[in-house]
Amino acid sequence: MNTLALQNLSYGMYVIGTTDGEKLTGCVVNTVVQAASAPALVTVSVNHKNLTNQCLKKHKLFSVSILSEAADSGVIGTFGFHSGRDTDKFATVPHSLTTSGMPVLNTGTCGWLECRVRDSFDLETHTMFIAEVLDAERLDGVPMTYSYYHRVIKGASPANAPTYVPQSAPVELPVSVAAPASAATWVCDVCEYVYDGEDGPFESLPDDWVCPICGVSKSQFSQK
Ligand SMILES: Cc1cc2nc3c(=O)[nH]c(=O)nc-3n(C[C@H](O)[C@H](O)[C@H](O)COP(=O)(O)O)c2cc1C
Repeated sequence: MNTLALQNLSYGMYVIGTTDGEKLTGCVVNTVVQAASAPALVTVSVNHKNLTNQCLKKHKLFSVSILSEAADSGVIGTFGFHSGRDTDKFATVPHSLTTSGMPVLNTGTCGWLECRVRDSFDLETHTMFIAEVLDAERLDGVPMTYSYYHRVIKGASPANAPTYVPQSAPVELPVSVAAPASAATWVCDVCEYVYDGEDGPFESLPDDWVCPICGVSKSQFSQK
């Protein structure tokens, strides 16, 4: 079996919004898929270890902010590489509430859905939630694809994402998206962002420079 074929599946980029008791929380996912149209149903796959998984099982209600290409990579870092267990993710991110009180991002989105969980299936590592779309809004912007996030923003996915590929695994990118041979080799230990040399040599970056994806300092980069 050539599991590299799975890397050719296409996805979008989303922020799930929900509540943990009184607190708003959520996480980045790339696994929202429309499963039916009448009624409109979507599926989303969320890792058992994510706080968001427990919240969806408990509260059943959630929002989906559909990220656009204008989305801030720092927001993806906050929602995709930190847990709501120790980070108040919505505290610093402009958002509005749907009629059910679910948080949706105000910027960097080209639409949102408000959903209620109808059913769920526990897989080995993830729960696949099936949810009915209660409300939705389409906004301006080009939807960000998972491929755009990797190719243009040069972001990575953490182990909790179902599409995670360990760094040691042989990643074969199509020729058109392969990194140039001279690509920088300083890699973020937290989110695997590869510094591309845009701001000069890595060693010369100022001490207050932070990873554009997950926000950690220079000291958490390793040379590979
Ligand atoms: C690009 C990207 C895609 C991701 N896709 C998923 C996904 O589909 N399902 C999932 O469970 N986690 C996914 N994650 C990981 C979660 O966002 C991450 O584990 C988050 O820290 C969980 O936060 P929580 O503990 O507050 O729920 C993704 C992260 C990134 C950056």
